[in-house]
Amino acid sequence: MQIRGKTVMITGASSGIGAACAVAFRRRGANLVLVARSADRLRDAASPGDLVLPGDLLEAGFRREAMAAAIARFGGIDVLVNNAGVGLYAPSWRASAAEIRHMFELNFFAPLDLIQLAAPHMRAAGRGVIVNVSSIAGRVTLPWFTLYSATKAALGALTRGLRSELKRDGIHCVEVCPGYVRTAFQRNVLSGSPPEALVAGRRFATTAESCANAIARAVEREAGTVITPGSGRLLLAAQALFPSLLESQLARMMDRQEARP
Ligand SMILES: NC(=O)c1ccc[n+]([C@@H]2O[C@H](COP(=O)([O-])OP(=O)(O)OC[C@H]3O[C@@H](n4cnc5c(N)ncnc54)[C@H](OP(=O)(O)O)[C@@H]3O)[C@@H](O)[C@H]2O)c1
Repeated sequence: MQIRGKTVMITGASSGIGAACAVAFRRRGANLVLVARSADRLRDAASPGDLVLPGDLLEAGFRREAMAAAIARFGGIDVLVNNAGVGLYAPSWRASAAEIRHMFELNFFAPLDLIQLAAPHMRAAGRGVIVNVSSIAGRVTLPWFTLYSATKAALGALTRGLRSELKRDGIHCVEVCPGYVRTAFQRNVLSGSPPEALVAGRRFATTAESCANAIARAVEREAGTVITPGSGRLLLAAQALFPSLLESQLARMMDRQEARP
């Protein structure tokens, strides 16, 4: 899709990948609708002409109002970037039920609801792109992040199914699977902390800007899946070729974590 002149709604636009997406889509000439809770940080990410909608995506009423406001202002919605998300480092067998529900609501049910709100308008226009920011953890279950992986696996399955459901309506769906991206994501997790081995791996992280440019290019090319950085493909290949070996390596990383004082 040619982005110039199109209306792009980005959730989680107040920081990290979402704020960088605002820059990447603005540079390509889009009308922007920016959504997140923090009004101040959203305003910092915005430029004159952007529609800034501060609010909590956990609230169904806010999701409806945000979509209605975007359509009232720009006459439609061409690209929906479901980017807002949160993590949780906690063993699944003892994680707090409230935190699990919070994470599933933000990472899966809120994007699904926004898709249901946007799809009728995109179908009427005969065009649209839905981008769901999943994670490499949605393709390879990380044992320190089991429940987060489950939310992103669900989002990935949704994206791949939607692509077939909506193809005949001219709507394209993109699954984005970032690896490690340097943002506030690790600080913003609902609880817990990552294994040491993962912290050490941060030096291989990519930037939010690089991730956002990969997302904007994927919208332009109507790509199906984005793995960013590309080195994430090694993990996917390891899972396809040596699943047991990969599983025992990941378990070893966990064991080292459990052994820490
Ligand atoms: N960073 C990574 O290594 C990485 C890797 C793979 C996938 N991802 C995915 O990439 C996406 C973006 O993450 P990021 O790295 O940019 O993290 P981030 O800097 O923590 O950004 C998260 C964004 O979501 C918004 N948000 C959180 N809760 C919200 C709520 N209840 N309602 C509305 N907005 C909410 C935050 O804004 P407010 O706090 O202002 O609401 C913020 O703008 C997430 O889906 C994440 O799972 C990240």
